[in-house]
Amino acid sequence: MLTLGIETSCDETAAAVLEDGKKVLSSVVASSIARQKPFGGVVPEIASRHHLENIDVVVDTALKEAGVPLHDVDLVAVTQGPGLIGALLVGTSFAKTLAYSIGRPVIGVNHLEAHLEANFIENEIPRNGYIGLIVSGGHTSLVLSQNGNLKVIGQTRDDAAGEAFDKVAKMLGLGYPGGPEIDKLAKSGNPDKIKFQCGNMPGTFDFSFSGIKTAVLYYTRKNEDFRGEIPDIAASFQRAIVKSLVDKTLLACAHFGMTAIVVGGGVAANTELRARLTGESKRNDYQLLLSPLKYSVDNAAMIARAGFLHFRRGRRDDWNLTGKANLAIGG
Ligand code: KG4
Ligand code: ZN
Repeated sequence: MLTLGIETSCDETAAAVLEDGKKVLSSVVASSIARQKPFGGVVPEIASRHHLENIDVVVDTALKEAGVPLHDVDLVAVTQGPGLIGALLVGTSFAKTLAYSIGRPVIGVNHLEAHLEANFIENEIPRNGYIGLIVSGGHTSLVLSQNGNLKVIGQTRDDAAGEAFDKVAKMLGLGYPGGPEIDKLAKSGNPDKIKFQCGNMPGTFDFSFSGIKTAVLYYTRKNEDFRGEIPDIAASFQRAIVKSLVDKTLLACAHFGMTAIVVGGGVAANTELRARLTGESKRNDYQLLLSPLKYSVDNAAMIARAGFLHFRRGRRDDWNLTGKANLAIGG
């Protein structure tokens, strides 16, 4: 079965062809990051325009690279939400039109669920359920997966982890997106130099990342020559974010009696997060699935994979399918 996946929720226009839910025949990503860079973040109108200009070429390229004629596609899967509404509408309209024109079904996919599904292209789903950590530029959530159902058990009360990376990078005069820049600089910095801390939200599985962002801002204001210690600031900030993510994930595993952790989203590419989770999982004898780097940031292979799974479980969407900016997990 051939699934064509289409992703347009934020600044990446992506398409992929997936065979039988397991084999990625092609995965094409056209990013508008270069056009967003001067603004230090994603401008929704620029993203929508970029999708409009590129979506047909990206889909065409994905089909060509896969060696699959359009009429051989069995299912079209598209990101329904959450995301920027203008960007989502470009993807859903295009996907519906394409599916209708070849007489094939279309399925709307939750972008956050797809970030976890990215793990199951190359691995089996843990049989006894798992704790899922979704860390992206727009969301930070902990989910409990049992018997094929996903339930949100915690989320950020303010900024997403990736958003905090991006905003702190901007304060430090680094490029956009900030996560990879901070990750790189942190390698040569001292993580114990500055005592940054994330809000703990005791008694919950929630996160808070806006306080630490403000703490970095005050630090740069108080220390005029902070430019000389940017690697230390990056390392100390990253250490605190990673600690918060790892602590809550382990807490959730213990609380729900889960022994598998599945991680997805752009921040899952972070070197320190990957290393800490790997170490803790070994120590606790947990199974750990970290989405492969190429499927951590936004891509359409994960959308195809999630759409394929829903289709196999019997879900069918009609032609009223449309983008939903705030689509909830399991919604
Ligand atoms: O999942 P994603 O590609 O897009 C959204 O759905 O938001 O995530 C993008 C986010 C950005 O905030 C980016 O700074 C962050 O992922 N990111 C990282 C790293 N690579 C990407 N954050 C920390 N360390 C990284 N290596
Ligand atoms: Zn994403």
